[in-house]
Amino acid sequence: MNSSNLFSEKNIGPFQLKNRIVIPPMCQYSAANGQATDWHLMHYGNLALSGAGMLIVEATAVCPEGRISYADLGLWDKNTAQALRKVVDFMRLHSSMPLAVQIAHAGRKASTDLSWKSDDYLPADSANGWQTVAPSAIAQSTGGTVPHELTNAEIKIIVEQFAEASARAIAIGFDMVELHAAHGYLMHEFLSPITNKRTDEYGGSLENRMRFPLEVVDAVRAVLPANTAFGVRISATDWIDRGWDLSQSIVFAKELDKRGCGYIHVSGGGLDGGLQKLPPLQSGYQLSFAEALKKEVVMPVIGVGLITDPFEAEKAIAEEKADFIAVGRGMLYDPRWAWHAAAALGGQVVAPAQYLRSSPHPY
Ligand code: FNR
Repeated sequence: MNSSNLFSEKNIGPFQLKNRIVIPPMCQYSAANGQATDWHLMHYGNLALSGAGMLIVEATAVCPEGRISYADLGLWDKNTAQALRKVVDFMRLHSSMPLAVQIAHAGRKASTDLSWKSDDYLPADSANGWQTVAPSAIAQSTGGTVPHELTNAEIKIIVEQFAEASARAIAIGFDMVELHAAHGYLMHEFLSPITNKRTDEYGGSLENRMRFPLEVVDAVRAVLPANTAFGVRISATDWIDRGWDLSQSIVFAKELDKRGCGYIHVSGGGLDGGLQKLPPLQSGYQLSFAEALKKEVVMPVIGVGLITDPFEAEKAIAEEKADFIAVGRGMLYDPRWAWHAAAALGGQVVAPAQYLRSSPHPY
């Protein structure tokens, strides 16, 4: 008998997750021209055996300028879609867990070097750099390029690109898409009054700042078949005075609920590394935001942030701080995190037959 909350089943949209463990999107900076490579086969093939309830593939750009770095995944044409299809097919060989992909545009945080090489932004005229775009022509406080302020016509094109990339994601076999409205990337830049100083219908009031992300949501919804779902990842706060905060996140989340959003994935920060005042980075430091949002919305809530101990994850679910717990770095460090959690908590994971004799614990 399974008495673990973490190892109980729950649905996101039409998909039943076998447990509450989610692998969040994590960029691998290993694509070539937006196309997945053998690294992605190895990395995601490995994680497909993790026993997690669901896996969300890393930020995948809607257009080349929407990549964080030149080695990010994309879903902007036939070639990028075909390359990623191979990864999806590979994961499906030995795993039936629901698969999502995070659809993203990096806005003014685009055009970086590879994360393990440097934190530098690459100038538009350098070999691997390009002109970034944003709601307003404001550089990050830490320096870097001044983004081009998007025109209304350019905004409409990006909305369409989100819909097209999402449609491609479903066409190549993903169950769900996650729209990236967190961490200071384009949608978050529209939401936050720190980065959005527009005076047209896309800036100013909260309603106006939510307009672009909600247009993206509506456009994506319109192309998704009925047997799929979409979720949205947000930063619940900028951790910057007079920035985006929990009360605005609640209003945004309610708008998402109205639009049939499948889940909300609650992260924090990332808008401006120079301005944000982070709290102490301790286990579950963002869970209070997930908990507050969970009280306000119907859709399931994913909590994330430095959760590495299975007992803490179990407690967070038992205390209804979140419906699902995302384990990121913990999963990279130990791709069998869920197996070990199951052993510790008396739960069960789906392990491949080939590995059934691998452990003293009966999975
Ligand atoms: C990330 N993170 C991240 N977030 C996101 O929304 N899209 C992404 O593509 C990435 N990429 C990424 C790469 C790597 C190497 C790391 C470590 C992180 C953030 C990630 O999804 C997660 O929110 C944080 O890592 C916090 O969770 P953990 O790692 O403390 O469990």
